[in-house]
Amino acid sequence: MHSQPPGPTAAKELFSLRGKRALVTGSGQGIGLTLARGLGAAGAELVLNDLDPARLEQAVATLRGEGLVVTGRRFDVAKAEEVGPAFVELERTVGPLDILVNNAGIHRRAPLETMPAASWQAVLDVNLTSAFLVTRAVASGMIERGGGKIINICSLNSELSRPTIANYAAAKGGLKMLTRAMAVEWGRHNLQANGIAPGYIRTDMTGGLVVDPEFDRYIRARTPAGRWGEPRELVGAAVFLASRASDFVNGQILYVDGGLLASQ
Ligand SMILES: NC(=O)c1ccc[n+]([C@@H]2O[C@H](COP(=O)([O-])OP(=O)(O)OC[C@H]3O[C@@H](n4cnc5c(N)ncnc54)[C@H](O)[C@@H]3O)[C@@H](O)[C@H]2O)c1
Repeated sequence: MHSQPPGPTAAKELFSLRGKRALVTGSGQGIGLTLARGLGAAGAELVLNDLDPARLEQAVATLRGEGLVVTGRRFDVAKAEEVGPAFVELERTVGPLDILVNNAGIHRRAPLETMPAASWQAVLDVNLTSAFLVTRAVASGMIERGGGKIINICSLNSELSRPTIANYAAAKGGLKMLTRAMAVEWGRHNLQANGIAPGYIRTDMTGGLVVDPEFDRYIRARTPAGRWGEPRELVGAAVFLASRASDFVNGQILYVDGGLLASQ
């Protein structure tokens, strides 16, 4: 008979984030805001981040109004000179982080043969380099404290591309491999780094596509679920990957895509 490892087994305890502090980048709206709300509902204290101060202030007020414990910090996740000082201040005034969600992301669509170098660079900076910069700022403390959870918001485009998004696909493909690199390098310190790869989700980022009848038809036909996803449908994956329930899950990308990636 194998003995059972010690630890909680009741679902309520396994998935509880009580006593944990989580930072979600780019959480002024969209997927980030919804993930923050979900982590908060599971018990985590929250730190929101966004580039846009008004959006951030509104998001903090909204979640506080829902009874969650929330602070906000405005900084650009793609700028090393902003990330470093922001974390020194954050750890000093708010406290150490147990959970980091690298969610901030942007699109700059253009045909590859005429894509401006600035669009290439901006998308690489915000969708990929930011995860390196922010995680680097958080990881040493997590290693010292004996553990932590890192969740990188990847994409279907970590695996698949389509015309005009070469910069985004390169960045999200890179983020998938950065996730694996984090898992390999920090697994022995009890850090788990995993990715959530959303399919087509209705947010501001996809707003222009949702209202394009041709694209909308294409997504509904291409997705086995026959519809777009909603941000709240990513919350279960985030709570799982932030909680003790995933302590032996490392370097995985969880596709939450209505079955799209499984379909030819
Ligand atoms: N919407 C989808 O269908 C979809 C699918 C797959 C992956 N994703 C990914 O999910 C994440 C969130 O997307 P969304 O749809 O909620 O987008 P969104 O545009 O609605 O929200 C992104 C937020 O990030 C903030 N942000 C942008 N650059 C920043 C920076 N440099 N520093 C700090 N904050 C910054 C923006 O101000 C905005 O509030 C992104 O990484 C995106 O690539 C989205």
